[in-house]
Amino acid sequence: MRIRTSQAGDRQAIAALHAQAFGPEEGPEIASLVDDLFADPTARPLLSLVADEHGVIGHVLFTPVRLPGHPDVPMQILAPLAVARSRQGEGIGSALVRDGLARLTASGTALVFVLGHPGYYARFGFRPAGARGLDAPYPIPAQHADAWMVQALGHLPAEPLQGRVRCATALDQPRHWCEPSEQ
Ligand SMILES: CC(C)(COP(=O)(O)OP(=O)(O)OC[C@H]1O[C@@H](n2cnc3c(N)ncnc32)[C@H](O)[C@@H]1OP(=O)(O)O)[C@@H](O)C(=O)NCCC(=O)NCCS
Repeated sequence: MRIRTSQAGDRQAIAALHAQAFGPEEGPEIASLVDDLFADPTARPLLSLVADEHGVIGHVLFTPVRLPGHPDVPMQILAPLAVARSRQGEGIGSALVRDGLARLTASGTALVFVLGHPGYYARFGFRPAGARGLDAPYPIPAQHADAWMVQALGHLPAEPLQGRVRCATALDQPRHWCEPSEQ
């Protein structure tokens, strides 16, 4: 298995992977979110990594977010992440996340956000973002508040970073912010 940046020729396999991994209820919407993000000029620069073993068996996408008042601080959000059902639990998702975080660190990203299961993402260094005064684009239901997470990768400016983050247009839609499982 090797992790590499995705190419245009991987798009169909990436969409199929998300559709399969997230299942019939969520899968189609996640697959079309990924397509929309690839086509979205506000989602650049994006980082799209695939786990490849005779085909795409995992994918993670990072796209930019902005914090009003801090236009020069580079920030990204991880969404979505998926591993083929037959290959889950082998460390492939972890390898994709860690590789992505290493690349973002090297390219000078200050903060990375995610909306997902705290039990999964805490292992990579993500911590609740609301407690740091960094709010999600849309309110997260109180029972899922810990699912909105952030981690600093370094390169932080001296001034405190607080406020409501904004995502690329394709992701900045209320329907993507209802349940943590959608990320
Ligand atoms: C979530 C997902 C990406 C994890 O990828 P993976 O390659 O199976 O994960 P890894 O092998 O790196 O890690 C496995 C660990 O993650 C945990 N894990 C997997 N899915 C989890 C979830 N939804 N919530 C909490 N923990 C989870 C496993 O229990 C296991 O824990 P352990 O290391 O303590 O035994 C994969 O299961 C998947 O594609 N799921 C469907 C899509 C999805 O829900 N994506 C959003 C992720 S929040």
